[in-house]
Amino acid sequence: MAIRNIVKFGEEVLNKKCRPVEKFDQKLAILLDDMKETLYDADGVGLAAPQVGILRRVVVIDDGSGLLELINPEILETSKETQIDAEGCLSNPGQYGMVERPYRVKVRAQDRNGNWFEKEGEGLLARAFCHELDHLEGILFTSRASRMLSVDELQG
Ligand code: NI
Repeated sequence: MAIRNIVKFGEEVLNKKCRPVEKFDQKLAILLDDMKETLYDADGVGLAAPQVGILRRVVVIDDGSGLLELINPEILETSKETQIDAEGCLSNPGQYGMVERPYRVKVRAQDRNGNWFEKEGEGLLARAFCHELDHLEGILFTSRASRMLSVDELQG
């Protein structure tokens, strides 16, 4: 496994739509292992493949309840109930903004062997599903934020 360089905002690769994964091979397994190591090294909640420069539909998330690997993920259901909280991104160090997200989100995705599964999350996990799937469409949280937090608010 290896820690990969995390692409920062302003790089074009973060604004591009990712292509589906078609081959569930050793190359994918290495990417997933590297993304996991990169996520834990950066102490993040989620990481999407474009953040390591790969335009494929691959996401890793750990909200504290264990690692989830999502390949070709899709949102199946979202709750009407929403949550508004401060959100950040490993590609935007030191930046946080208030973002409204559904409180509960159900996704379906493939695992590293290509098998489909469903997973429902609420709170932070629901937020992470939305944030990371946005990355696959080239959307950053800064464009979803109702407002960004000031330095004073961050230090307070
Ligand atoms: Ni992000």
